[in-house]
Amino acid sequence: MSGINGKVVAITGAGSGIGEASALLLASRGAKLVLGARRGDRLEALAARIEAKGGTAAWTTTDVRRRNDLADLVACARERYGALDVLVNNAGVGPISPFDELRVEDWDQMIDVNFRGVLYGIAAALPVFREQRKGQFVNVVSTAGLRIVPNQAVYAATKNAVRTLTEGLRQEAGPDLRVTMVSPGYVGTEFADSVTSPTVKSQAQTVDFCLAPDDIARAIAFAIEQPSNVDVGDIVVRPTAQG
Ligand SMILES: NC(=O)c1ccc[n+]([C@@H]2O[C@H](COP(=O)([O-])OP(=O)(O)OC[C@H]3O[C@@H](n4cnc5c(N)ncnc54)[C@H](OP(=O)(O)O)[C@@H]3O)[C@@H](O)[C@H]2O)c1
Repeated sequence: MSGINGKVVAITGAGSGIGEASALLLASRGAKLVLGARRGDRLEALAARIEAKGGTAAWTTTDVRRRNDLADLVACARERYGALDVLVNNAGVGPISPFDELRVEDWDQMIDVNFRGVLYGIAAALPVFREQRKGQFVNVVSTAGLRIVPNQAVYAATKNAVRTLTEGLRQEAGPDLRVTMVSPGYVGTEFADSVTSPTVKSQAQTVDFCLAPDDIARAIAFAIEQPSNVDVGDIVVRPTAQG
């Protein structure tokens, strides 16, 4: 199967930003969506928007820090649509800060959501993909892992951990599965809301050249729509103004 029409796509962090834009774009191109995030009201409203436009969407509240929630997300896809073709591991948080502030709870949160959450997604979907002999992971990482800058080290480390496991998974995946990572640069979303450091919050407000979430959604769609023997490994999408 190539293209997007008819594919069953589960997205974590689907209630806002890149996840929401990806859900809307993929649904408009005929994908059947399964939306996951913690805020059920957001997912319910998004599913209603998709259905109102003639698309298809189910949703289930999902906290990627809980392995069972990822299992439920995948089960929702199979129960509702009989298969899962793509899992977009998109959920992420970025409470970045200088090391000296010792925001250890924020470090733990980034490890749990950005890294452990992706592993739980893989644990939930990989056996299904093996059984189906088809499937695709799309892991959303970040350019923060490509150019390391002050205040972002822990966030970048979680994203580079995902970068590493994505490449390892690709090598183990064999001929039936596809493994993609997408590295966005600055994108205008609610992402900065998770920052707790006042220093970083004031700096973030100076960034005025962000991409739109839809700019990343198109990259995700590109990786999904390729023929089944074409594995798009790594896409980096930055604003032209980003150094
Ligand atoms: N914006 C950027 O500049 C940028 C740049 C590079 C990479 N990224 C990456 O892009 C991805 C999407 O971020 P975004 O920019 O679209 O930000 P966003 O609008 O804040 O979206 C992040 C989503 O993740 C969900 N989420 C957070 N914690 C979660 C958890 N424990 N379990 C399940 N879902 C959770 C949030 O929904 P709930 O709160 O309802 O759970 C939210 O919908 C992230 O992985 C981020 O690291 C963003």
